[in-house]
Amino acid sequence: MVPVPEFRGDGSGEVVATAFDYSALSRALAGTPLAALAGVIPADFAAGVTHGDFPRWQAALAALPSIGVPSVDLKTTVRVGTPQQLSEAERNSLRATLMQLHPWRKGPFDLFGLHIDTEWRSDWKWDRVLPHLTPLAGRRVLDVGCGNGYHCWRMAGEGAELVVGVEPMLLYVMQYWALRQLLPAPPVWVLPATLEQLPETLPGFDTVFSMGVLYHRRSPFEHLDLLKKKLRKGGELVLETLVIDGGPGMTLVPPERYCRMNNVWFLPSCATLQLWLQKAGFSDVRVVDVTPTSTGEQRQTDWMTFESLSHALDARNQSLTVEGHPAPLRATLIARNG
Ligand SMILES: C[S@@+](CC[C@H](N)C(=O)[O-])C[C@H]1O[C@@H](n2cnc3c(N)ncnc32)[C@H](O)[C@@H]1O
Repeated sequence: MVPVPEFRGDGSGEVVATAFDYSALSRALAGTPLAALAGVIPADFAAGVTHGDFPRWQAALAALPSIGVPSVDLKTTVRVGTPQQLSEAERNSLRATLMQLHPWRKGPFDLFGLHIDTEWRSDWKWDRVLPHLTPLAGRRVLDVGCGNGYHCWRMAGEGAELVVGVEPMLLYVMQYWALRQLLPAPPVWVLPATLEQLPETLPGFDTVFSMGVLYHRRSPFEHLDLLKKKLRKGGELVLETLVIDGGPGMTLVPPERYCRMNNVWFLPSCATLQLWLQKAGFSDVRVVDVTPTSTGEQRQTDWMTFESLSHALDARNQSLTVEGHPAPLRATLIARNG
């Protein structure tokens, strides 16, 4: 078993917790309609991890500075602390530490004057989605496929009572823990799990987000059904996914890759997606946003040095992918459970 480093996280200067400590979540779930979620909280997170990079990532978390409980803005961006709290040398050291968790895909984050310029301007998606939501204040929220939890932090910034993200990619869960160490006990939790690993029927969330996940699933109806079973009656689903232009019934099934991704199964039209949601038992289905993904929103940066969207578009015709499919167009739909 890899030893889990201890860290200083509350700014008191004392060692206060062990990384990957989900016990406060277990306590928060007790006696709520989400109590069964406790069953998927890892008892000993590190013990089950076999990923070869894990010790290096753990060391990065252990090397994060302990800084007094900082000012935090989760409402207009994700900003922690002020530049004055670190010297230039300390900021460079923080940069080097967080670079151990490269690639940073979802963000941006501002940490003590250090700007993490992520591959995605995830704040742009949030700005498109937020105006259409039933206000999140006081709600229990599930974010399926949350990546490093960027949108989870923004949901907390809107006053959500509890935000649970699920994300199977270990590196992104580590990025979440890195952020969490720098923040004072926020009600945001990212679990190293898939949607399919949650209890199938868990109708305790007021709002469920599935953003950027549906096209990675083989069966759209199975995904929609699992999401529905996590919502209380009357709860709200926020579904964001890749779509194509077209009428009811139209769906693109890329024979091979789409935008250089080999795990994209289908891109429906908005009208098709509306039908799918209705057929899955949702009501009040609305398309609230349709936006092409630009190379300003998804691009290579210092914090994500691999190839990005511009490499996946036809150099002579940016309205097509390199495979000849329509370039990425993303829609957000909102629907009610029952
Ligand atoms: C394209 S990213 C979207 C991240 C974020 N939701 C956003 O909108 O920016 C999709 C994420 O879903 C995760 N994912 C894929 N299949 C999943 C599943 N079955 N359950 C939960 N997450 C999943 C992937 O690991 C990935 O981090």
